[in-house]
Amino acid sequence: MVIICPHCQHEHVVDESRLPANVTKVRCKSCKELFDIVNPNAAVTSPAEATTVNNTEPRKIAVTLSKGGVGKTTTAVNLAAGLALAGYKVLLVDTDTQGQSSFMLGIKPKAGLTEFVNDELSLDETMVKARERLWVLGGGRTLAGLKRVIDRKDFGGEMTLKEKLSTIDKQFDYVVVDTSPGWDPLIVNVLFYVKEILTPVSLEVMTLQGLVEFLKSMSSVQKYNKDVALKYILPTFHDQRVKKSDGILTKLEELYGNHVCTPIRYNVRISEAPAYGQTIYEFAPGSPGAQDYRDLIRKITNNPKLFT
Ligand SMILES: Nc1ncnc2c1ncn2[C@@H]1O[C@H](COP(=O)(O)OP(=O)(O)OP(=O)(O)O)[C@@H](O)[C@H]1O
Ligand SMILES: [Mg+2]
Repeated sequence: MVIICPHCQHEHVVDESRLPANVTKVRCKSCKELFDIVNPNAAVTSPAEATTVNNTEPRKIAVTLSKGGVGKTTTAVNLAAGLALAGYKVLLVDTDTQGQSSFMLGIKPKAGLTEFVNDELSLDETMVKARERLWVLGGGRTLAGLKRVIDRKDFGGEMTLKEKLSTIDKQFDYVVVDTSPGWDPLIVNVLFYVKEILTPVSLEVMTLQGLVEFLKSMSSVQKYNKDVALKYILPTFHDQRVKKSDGILTKLEELYGNHVCTPIRYNVRISEAPAYGQTIYEFAPGSPGAQDYRDLIRKITNNPKLFT
């Protein structure tokens, strides 16, 4: 078999019959980076078993902003898929009733987050393997039922998601959570679960006000959950031809400094990819959109050599 290093792209020809069944990580002889491999000799029977339990906390990142249409789902999907391409095991959790994350990946899960959290179905029945190293707990209309369950709890409703996801998330290196626009009990649940917040801010429309409002709501959760913090502000829909776009970017950088990531440019390929059920790396790997999302993965993993 041929194993391609996700860091330096060096191709290694390996005699797979000599690969011990328990090997899940290998070191690249060329760039010396350690990365995960899918071992064909491992006994794999279900998506849950395809992941190894390493008993360390994953990085848990929510992609969220109350304002709609700023690129949350696009970012959650391409962040999760990009991390998986980079060699990490990733769980993408869709907490939006629109269920767009699955659609963007071209999958139609029969069940998802609601059934898993409500103990109606097992993890194997709800978690779908969407790509190599990428698993999805789908959202959709059934989440309305989950919201009602959360609302009905007299005590501890805000911990519902955390209590359940914490039982399985150590199988992953990253958990990426897509959220719906607005502010509701499910988003509060997400903020009690994750540690890192990534907020996309559209440079196309004036959303700084939306960001300020969101940060106020977030600080009310931070009073009770000191672990959650705004880590990344991701400017989206950047169009250099539009003066206002650069104006908002400059303002963001003045206010939030190092938290501001390199912007995702406005790129029509990004909006075309979902109709084909493809990520931007699959649909248009050489496009500005793919380049920008790779850049985001480099920042988040703190690995400037990734994909180079
Ligand atoms: N950088 C971009 N360039 C061009 N189109 C984009 C870009 N980012 C996202 N889009 C498109 O903009 C639309 C809104 O994006 P997306 O669904 O990711 O936003 P959202 O914040 O998740 O929306 P909602 O709040 O409704 O969940 C989609 O059609 C998407 O394909
Ligand atoms: Mg969305």
